[in-house]
Amino acid sequence: MCKENRTDEVFEEVKIREMRIEDYDQVRALWMTIRGFGIRSIDDSEEGVARFIRRNPSTSVVAKANGETIGAILCGHDGRRGCFYHVCVREDYRKKGIGKAMAVFAMKALQKEQINKVSLIAFKQNTVGNRFWKSVGWTFREDLNYYDFTLNEANITKFNA
Ligand SMILES: CC(C)(COP(=O)(O)OP(=O)(O)OC[C@H]1O[C@@H](n2cnc3c(N)ncnc32)[C@H](O)[C@@H]1OP(=O)(O)O)[C@@H](O)C(=O)NCCC(=O)NCCS
Repeated sequence: MCKENRTDEVFEEVKIREMRIEDYDQVRALWMTIRGFGIRSIDDSEEGVARFIRRNPSTSVVAKANGETIGAILCGHDGRRGCFYHVCVREDYRKKGIGKAMAVFAMKALQKEQINKVSLIAFKQNTVGNRFWKSVGWTFREDLNYYDFTLNEANITKFNA
């Protein structure tokens, strides 16, 4: 993807491709810069992400610029519904269409696997995230409540400051 940089009007190449486990270190480093992200001790470890990618080898995404990972989406499905986790773009690359392009890439990958619906969780206080999903056409569901149940207490979530 070639995209005009809106601040200094130079052109730079941003490439969007499938995430591989070799991307883990850079993706994790990016996650750690995102305020409010909850990083899980097991699910977000290298082993946890490798397990996720083995199960969903073609649906997660990275955005690369100058050899650096500047965006990522963990995306998978259970055979029926797709799910996005940890959608992020590095702060200095935001508002250039990269988040939308990554989401479209992952949604097309889900469609190839015959998945007909995709969902995600956004914290209510995440103003930027909620504005983003509404603006790229996702439906905010007011008619349902979200339930979960912890199956492993060792999978501790630590939120970035
Ligand atoms: C949400 C996020 C991934 C968006 O990435 P991005 O590359 O900046 O998004 P895009 O440039 O593709 O934006 C697409 C549209 O979303 C909307 N949007 C994006 N950021 C916005 C913001 N800060 N305020 C209002 N609208 C915004 C705009 O309508 C934008 O279109 P426009 O630029 O033509 O107006 C990025 O802001 C991010 O990493 N945020 C922190 C992590 C996070 O909150 N993730 C979502 C978890 S649910």
